[in-house]
Amino acid sequence: MPGDRLHRIRRHYEARVAPHRETYDILDWSSRESQEVRFTVLLQILRQAARSDHVLRLLDVGCGMTDLAGFLERHRLPVRYVGADITLGILAEARRRSPRRCLLAADVFTAPPFAARTFDATYCSGVFNLSLGNNDDFALAALPRLLDLAETVAVANFLHCRCRRKYEHCHYFDPAALGAALERRGLHVTLIDDYLENDFTLVLRRP
Ligand SMILES: C[S@@+](CC[C@H](N)C(=O)[O-])C[C@H]1O[C@@H](n2cnc3c(N)ncnc32)[C@H](O)[C@@H]1O
Repeated sequence: MPGDRLHRIRRHYEARVAPHRETYDILDWSSRESQEVRFTVLLQILRQAARSDHVLRLLDVGCGMTDLAGFLERHRLPVRYVGADITLGILAEARRRSPRRCLLAADVFTAPPFAARTFDATYCSGVFNLSLGNNDDFALAALPRLLDLAETVAVANFLHCRCRRKYEHCHYFDPAALGAALERRGLHVTLIDDYLENDFTLVLRRP
């Protein structure tokens, strides 16, 4: 990722880190509920993919404070969780709060530190939210790479252009346009947009 965009992402999230601040607030979600309703979409997909003889391998790109790992534990879905993020201050705070979780600093879309199909599922929640001037192009390049790393499914959520209250620093996607562009690149896309007014999820598979 070009240095100026990387610095903008890091500056935004690192400025929000404070020792006693709620994790959802550090990550710029409006509430714990809105963060977790996004995770619930993934949970339902993972439950469908789960098998009794195999623990799902899950890569959480843009893992933030690794709240997803705690959420899946509470919902009793065992996974082999790996979190990756590019914001070092966020990773340091995540490690301080949850020292046992498997975390790494990596720009997974530019220089993936894993071979293709290393995971059963790959996931991004909130990674495309900050407006960087190239969000549509970036998502179109990043999502096929997210699917490359997955054996079965890649899942990502985005802020929805239909939402009424928009923030200047955020980017809002058109799900129809993004989905169609990904289909033209050969991905099979399912849209889920019935859980929050301001959000949608794309479920990506190989055709
Ligand atoms: C809105 S927060 C969401 C964190 C977490 N996924 C959650 O839902 O709790 C977005 C996170 O994505 C990270 N991020 C943004 N762009 C990224 C990229 N290209 N690669 C990895 N992480 C990225 C940020 O550093 C930040 O921690």
